[in-house]
Amino acid sequence: MTEPVTTIAAEIARRRTFAIISHPDAGKTTLTERILRAGGAIQLAGNVRAKGERRRTRSDWMGIERDRGISVVTSVMTFEYGGCVFNLLDTPGHEDFSEDTYRTLTAVDSAVMVIDAAKGIEERTRKLFEICRLRDIPIVTFINKMDREAQDPFALLDEISSGLALDTSPATWPVGRAAQFAGTYDLRTKALHVPGDMAQSDPRMVALGEELELVEAALPPFDRESFDAGHLTPVFFGSAMKEIGVTDLLDAMVAFGPPPRAQQTETREVRADEDAVTALVFKIQANMDPNHRDRMAFARVCSGRLTRGMRLRHVRIGKHFALHTPQFFFARDRQLAEEAFGGDVVGIPNHGTLRIGDTLTENEDLRFTGVPHFAPEILRRVRLDDAMKAKKLRQALVELAEEGVVQLFRPQDGSAPIVGVVGTLQLDVLQARLQQEYGVGIGFESTPYSLARWVTGPQARLEAFAMSNRTAMADDIDGDPVFLASSAFMMRRTSEMQPELKFHDIKQIG
Ligand code: G4P
Repeated sequence: MTEPVTTIAAEIARRRTFAIISHPDAGKTTLTERILRAGGAIQLAGNVRAKGERRRTRSDWMGIERDRGISVVTSVMTFEYGGCVFNLLDTPGHEDFSEDTYRTLTAVDSAVMVIDAAKGIEERTRKLFEICRLRDIPIVTFINKMDREAQDPFALLDEISSGLALDTSPATWPVGRAAQFAGTYDLRTKALHVPGDMAQSDPRMVALGEELELVEAALPPFDRESFDAGHLTPVFFGSAMKEIGVTDLLDAMVAFGPPPRAQQTETREVRADEDAVTALVFKIQANMDPNHRDRMAFARVCSGRLTRGMRLRHVRIGKHFALHTPQFFFARDRQLAEEAFGGDVVGIPNHGTLRIGDTLTENEDLRFTGVPHFAPEILRRVRLDDAMKAKKLRQALVELAEEGVVQLFRPQDGSAPIVGVVGTLQLDVLQARLQQEYGVGIGFESTPYSLARWVTGPQARLEAFAMSNRTAMADDIDGDPVFLASSAFMMRRTSEMQPELKFHDIKQIG
């Protein structure tokens, strides 16, 4: 029997790796369900979010998430649709976990921006959009809840283009509005998606005819190049709840959704169709399966054909290891991955050897860049309930910091560790997990610091600075020096007095 020969180029051409960005309540969960259903990944919409527990999605593995009704962790869902392999990377809805979301956005090739048709662009959508813009990630817009009272479509398009400085090109047009919303007209394929019994004389069809004239006269056509560069967004109208417009969106992703992009390393750009395997770890997650206390590293394959059992080089520590059990994730299950290509996300079970930002290669000495650490805005000292557990706490903090739960700063003066977070819910997660998984009870104490900055510069200057500011200096998890400042004013003054040193609010890992 001969196996079908697939080239790497053909495989990556059919990969679509994306995330959904939105403000809470715009309909991300509902849309995710409908997309997975269209892709056959789940039989019934509602499996992602069981009835009566509407916030509990398959990605909610942790008790604390369920208790609090929020999705803390990021997961990945793989499904096939229209001959393409889709990898949908889920992101936490709550903004306290935005660091996790930012990192996930480094692993996608496009993003679907969901907007509530009544509310328009909301604050969190804007923030996430800005992150996508930093990386020129192409954005597809889905205007949801068209089955309810909504703003006028022209006004919504206008709000996107002026509010986000992003050109818009409607890909579909709504037929009927609010309770009368019946379907869509696809401007690209000219297909009408409305119930079969709708007459041409129906007032909604008549209105559509008039609006289409306006649309064609007034709005720019789709331009692939601008879309790929992240300057123009095709806009879809629909209702995730009523399953209107969802396949328009998926069909378009098949037709023109961006395939895996080239990824930047410290030394060169890696194209997805290169033969040698490279991969980038963008997320670590523990407790995926309560029965197995494993840690899962989520790696985006950046190039080559990854196969089960192959040996990969862990560039940071300079060692090779065999990839025995790489895994793919579906809505409900995970499954051993026999092979994966650029754009795919595989889970690699490990015991702490892999960290966020790590690069895996066949042998080349490469380090991917672009996975960020953000300077935390909240800094707390960890107070141990039982002094006998100091050693255990140290190890636990390192493990949880490697996972990205919090950032860990070890003061150079030897005082108790300081943790940094972007949102206070991260502190709750840390406290709960230290208790549940390590049996270590802790509390938090305030610190005099409100800012942390990574410091770089000539070694001698750096050492002299650290000596004279010993109480405000700490090492991060990689041993990189961090200056803790009590206020923005202090920070400014310090950096003015230290012209040879640089103070960074973002650290690129890798
Ligand atoms: P999120 O993940 O972005 O936070 O949003 P989610 O999908 O949970 O949707 C938020 C609310 O909006 C839910 O209502 C959901 O049913 C509703 N919704 C989502 N898409 C549509 C749509 O296309 N049309 C309409 N009319 N509603 C939509 P809920 O009342 O908060 O919860 P539930 O009781 O309906 O589950």
